[in-house]
Amino acid sequence: MTIPTAFLDEIRARVPLSDIVGRRLRLQRAGREWKAPCPFHQEKTPSFYINDQKSFFHCFGCGAHGDAVGFLMRHDGMAFPEAVEQLAGLAGLEMPRPEPEEQKKYDRLKLLADALESATKWFEMQLHAPSGRGALAYLKGRGLDNRTISEFRLGYAPPAGDAIRAALTVQGHEETILEEVGLIRRPDDGRAPYGFFRNRVIFPVSDKRGRVIAFGGRILEGDGPKYVNSPEHALFHKGSVLYGMARARAAIGKGERPIVVEGYMDVISFQAAGLGGAVAPLGTALGEAQLVELWKAQDEKAQRESPPILCFDGDNAGRRAAARAIERILPLLGPSRSVSVAFLPQGEDPDSLVRTGGAAAARRALEGASPLIDAVWQFSTEGRPLATPEQRAGLWAELDAQIRMIADSQVQSLYRVDLRRRFDALFLDRRPFVSRGRGAPFAAPGPRPRQVRPASVMEARIILALMINHPFLFDELSESFAEITLPEMWEPLRCAVFEALTAEPLDAEALGLHLRSEGFGPILDDILGPATTQNARFVKPETTGEEVRAYWLDIWERMDRRRLDQELAIARSDPNRFEDQAMERISKLGERVYYGAAKGTDERTRIFVDHESMVAHVIAEALKAPVKNRPNDEVLSRDGEL
Ligand code: UTP
Ligand code: MN
Repeated sequence: MTIPTAFLDEIRARVPLSDIVGRRLRLQRAGREWKAPCPFHQEKTPSFYINDQKSFFHCFGCGAHGDAVGFLMRHDGMAFPEAVEQLAGLAGLEMPRPEPEEQKKYDRLKLLADALESATKWFEMQLHAPSGRGALAYLKGRGLDNRTISEFRLGYAPPAGDAIRAALTVQGHEETILEEVGLIRRPDDGRAPYGFFRNRVIFPVSDKRGRVIAFGGRILEGDGPKYVNSPEHALFHKGSVLYGMARARAAIGKGERPIVVEGYMDVISFQAAGLGGAVAPLGTALGEAQLVELWKAQDEKAQRESPPILCFDGDNAGRRAAARAIERILPLLGPSRSVSVAFLPQGEDPDSLVRTGGAAAARRALEGASPLIDAVWQFSTEGRPLATPEQRAGLWAELDAQIRMIADSQVQSLYRVDLRRRFDALFLDRRPFVSRGRGAPFAAPGPRPRQVRPASVMEARIILALMINHPFLFDELSESFAEITLPEMWEPLRCAVFEALTAEPLDAEALGLHLRSEGFGPILDDILGPATTQNARFVKPETTGEEVRAYWLDIWERMDRRRLDQELAIARSDPNRFEDQAMERISKLGERVYYGAAKGTDERTRIFVDHESMVAHVIAEALKAPVKNRPNDEVLSRDGEL
């Protein structure tokens, strides 16, 4: 039902949000706002704020955000009209009357929904009637128990063409309605209408709130398509429906990860095995609307940390399907919008996997899921000849075309950087490492390298002060901000800044207020105070954006160079006695030397480990050529520690 915006505004004005929330959570005053531990994610210290003036809530921890209606929908699981109705009652307002036209439309939809519900019950009954014996045996034979059968409301459509029409019209459902939702078909030649599903096992398809809107029917024997599905109608739009979504949505809200599989039986097997987030499109490829539904079912933190897993068969058809899915998803990616990709063992589908190996086998297969970017890389490089410059250029052109499909500019440029590095790494000089006569350099045991010193205290101060006074930096530099080694005492502050700015872009003032509300007041006074500004005046809020950025990069590079120097010094002191475990650190080091770059994700490390001889070569080169120090910077050289 369409509710006028003015009516919603009136409700917001009349019922303070803190009243609604306060009936459900214990609130504490926080200045002009209220706060409480967030009901939408696990936390001990409150970061869930309620603002009555603006009538919205916001959680700095998980990003949950909304008004009273949103709160009731999410906290109490209400549907939109239900939430509005309850609030209208509290506000002493009559619900707006729908226009007669609109009312007619709703009445008709209600008739469709009622008919679908009656049909579901009837199909269920048929499964347990004597004529359904074969169908029931079939489902049992596929490993489904009574509980699963009733939870998914599985049913049976008997062979008799007229049975369902007769049964439902007796209950008062009109033939035209049954026809509209595709339960019966009226032949053109004037013969009597007949049931659309005959002698098939019935899988009711519900919308995300659990209302049945369509059916899938699986053939039991004889000829014909394996599955037939209801045609689309006013309540059923295939492209935005996912089988199993109502149950999955509840599970995902409790932290289960969304998993997209192919078929009805796959969803049932996964969910019954405890993978509650399993859903499937209805015989079509996964579309944008369906993905958006899955992302919406997760909170922001979950979106970032455990995106939906798309699960494909391990065979060639599965790989082709995955490649097509990737193409469709690239344009939709965003900072908290991604997917992971998992392939099942050869010859298995989710259903067979659970049947043979149980939930453990399913979980194992899903643990192997890789981030989307890995799948992009793998599909483009796999089995591809790359001996000639033309072939290599072809690979880059293909990668580039995919990168360009990403609409989000930030994500696009990060994909470009990452894929370009992988591409370059493939073609670095592959000369094998020549042992310098004392055996394999990486196998020999040796002393542990010394711990790399954290950044100097003054640098840490400056980095923190720059970020807190100029949070716009975060957008571009969050990764380096996260990587810097800080003195331990400032670790909680860095975390708080990181979390706040990840949840939402804030200006310096809002960030400062938020940090102070979290108890960082005294630390902020110190870090933003004279102890820092006397050495580095440029940290002050007045410095212009371009300057701030330049200072940040300068300090960052200086810190990184020094770290590199130290590591090289350690290596140089005894280059042939690296520890096995030091390999990972060293390959990062090798990469950094080669690229002069500042980052080393695990992914890139893995590539270098795969190309062991190249790493060795890079390191050997690095050990010969000392890294030059940059000349001192005037502003910072006054600080004794630098
Ligand atoms: P599958 O052929 O993989 O079937 O189709 P399945 O789900 O594994 O079925 P079982 O295990 O043999 O019973 C995957 C999905 O594609 C749609 C259905 O949604 C099915 O679940 N489909 C398949 C159709 O819509 N029509 C068909 O004829 C076949
Ligand atoms: Mn199957």
